[in-house]
Amino acid sequence: MSYFRDVSSPARARHPISASGAAVAPACTLVIFGAFGDLTKRLLMPALYNLAGQGLLDEGFAIVGIDRVDGDDDAWRKSLTDMMQTFTTDKNAEFYTPEIDQKAWGWLLERMTYRKGDFTSADELRTIGKDLDGAAVFYLAVPSRFFAVAVKTLGEAGLVAEDRGFRRVVIEKPFGLDLESAKALNADVLSVVDESQVYRIDHFLGKETVQNILAMRFGNILFEPLWHRDYIDHIQITAAETIGVESRGAFYEPTGALRDMIPNHLFQLFGMVAMEPPNSFSAETVRTAKEQLFEAVRPIPPEDAVRGQYTAGTVEGRDVIAYRASKGVDPDSHTETYAALKLHVDNWRWSGVPFYLRTGKSLQARRTEVVVHFKKPPLDMFDRSGAGVDALASNRLILNIQPEEGLTVEMTAKHPGPVMNLVPVSVKFRYGDAFKVQPNVGYETLIYDCLCGDATLFQRADNIDSAWRAVDGVLRAWREDPSTLEFYASGETGPAGAEEMMRRDGRAWYPLDRPDTQEPG
Ligand code: BG6
Repeated sequence: MSYFRDVSSPARARHPISASGAAVAPACTLVIFGAFGDLTKRLLMPALYNLAGQGLLDEGFAIVGIDRVDGDDDAWRKSLTDMMQTFTTDKNAEFYTPEIDQKAWGWLLERMTYRKGDFTSADELRTIGKDLDGAAVFYLAVPSRFFAVAVKTLGEAGLVAEDRGFRRVVIEKPFGLDLESAKALNADVLSVVDESQVYRIDHFLGKETVQNILAMRFGNILFEPLWHRDYIDHIQITAAETIGVESRGAFYEPTGALRDMIPNHLFQLFGMVAMEPPNSFSAETVRTAKEQLFEAVRPIPPEDAVRGQYTAGTVEGRDVIAYRASKGVDPDSHTETYAALKLHVDNWRWSGVPFYLRTGKSLQARRTEVVVHFKKPPLDMFDRSGAGVDALASNRLILNIQPEEGLTVEMTAKHPGPVMNLVPVSVKFRYGDAFKVQPNVGYETLIYDCLCGDATLFQRADNIDSAWRAVDGVLRAWREDPSTLEFYASGETGPAGAEEMMRRDGRAWYPLDRPDTQEPG
């Protein structure tokens, strides 16, 4: 028996051809560890459904779900079908679609097999692996403490040898909890598989708006000539969330905001914005460019870092309990729910240009964005007040990652009228206006790329280590000195120390709370 369907079946002819013109991914079996888990239900299945709907999966594609839960093919398919159904009603879920395309979903269901099994047992994996011929991708949708053991067991069961097709392993985040543990995990993984077989996920790289940073920088001539220390004063990278820790206390307590968001998601944004132009969009070239940047980041001294924890308050009109009162959280917890850092890059392009990174939960507004603050023009030839160039606004380029998706340029224009009156205006590009955007969960591109063997949007081992290296001193200082923790009320912009850090540098955070249509003045 094989998990593969007969690829010569007449169904092949009926299968829709990719409307986008993109190549159909090569046939393979996707083996998901954690088949009944949250990630599989909420993100992987909707992403696979979208890929199936776009005709990007081969007729020979198959999915094998593995979990410790009792169940069979029907039970697994039913639990996923029920979940898909909720996406037609819950507009706040990661994925919302007014109706399920039964043809695409049915196409996937036919290819799903469930096997109860323990992925820490080589014997069990060997048995499951008997029916696995040809190419396979093993997706570790399991808690991070199982990453090393799952890869080890795959090796012991002989399932990662590439003699009959590619064998790849997808590893989720968090990849380690600090530099030491990340290095150890990389060593464990790479003792079993080759780097070319490892796909380390950072779901931010699956976001269209994040990939668009490269398109914007390197698909245009406009920005790159200005993209360095002569024209840029500083850059802010923000990932602000209104949600709190919710029911994830057990995960969040030993993790905290810095580990959860900065060496991974925010560093990916930083990498896209600040790397040198790669010669091509190939995996090794892009990841090497990113690595050169990460290596040039000066280790962040603790005085350039601020952390905070939210107390009770009101967020978007909702009463919110304190972090310390949340389920699974120590009532005396010193875990930060907010982190802000200043980092310097010691290379020719960025020397002297600070990057300010901030992230937090239970904040005033949800916004993920990069704000590039340009220097002032050298002369105010319109000077009427005598204030000189200080009277002119700086240009800003805002890369809106989410929830607003697009790009805004803030500039100066003449106000209509008889006097030369200058006012700030903004020019906006909105994804929704320019394109008909299909509902997606952001994992579509990542899964498709992995099936196609393109690792450009995945993290290489050295990228992971370098990002942890940059923040390691701060993590250590925070562990040793609990008094570094500040507090902020839910619904605020973060702790006072973060504002103070900017004030010391004569700068300010770009406001979080602003209507999307506002023209900042
Ligand atoms: C996850 C973090 O990796 O990213 C969460 O563990 C965070 O704490 C989430 O909320 C943010 O991702 P997104 O795509 O919702 O901005």
